[in-house]
Amino acid sequence: MNFLVLHGPNLNLLGKREPQIYGSVTLAEINQELENLALELGGCTLSFFQSNTEGELINAIQEASTACDGILINPAAYTHTSIAIRDALSSVRLPCVEVHLSNVHRREEFRHTSLTAPVALGQICGFGCDSYLLGLRALFNHVKNA
Ligand code: DQA
Repeated sequence: MNFLVLHGPNLNLLGKREPQIYGSVTLAEINQELENLALELGGCTLSFFQSNTEGELINAIQEASTACDGILINPAAYTHTSIAIRDALSSVRLPCVEVHLSNVHRREEFRHTSLTAPVALGQICGFGCDSYLLGLRALFNHVKNA
């Protein structure tokens, strides 16, 4: 099994960015935790990509359609704005889990809407780095049992 882990805009700043909301964990640490979990789950390889650019995220989703069995995505602010990323996710028809570090539902109202969650298997938010780990487990089990 091959999964693409996609990180959206500003997530490269984790560790320094609004630590009161996102904590002190860095993106490299999140990716390492995911690698550790993938090893534990067995038979699962991960590729990682972060971009601050909508089009690059869309290209990565399109490329995943031939190379991957699923997508774990934190679309960051594009969650709330990007019809194009949603369309890319629904076009490739890969199982996808959406994750967020923060609980977007207890933050500003504009974060309560996700354009991407309706084309995902599900959304996990509010657990910091654990959102990603729970998301990977959910994606892994879904693909394994498909
Ligand atoms: C985020 C939540 C988004 O609303 C925000 O724009 C982000 C990060 C999260 O992981 O909590 O950049 O996706």
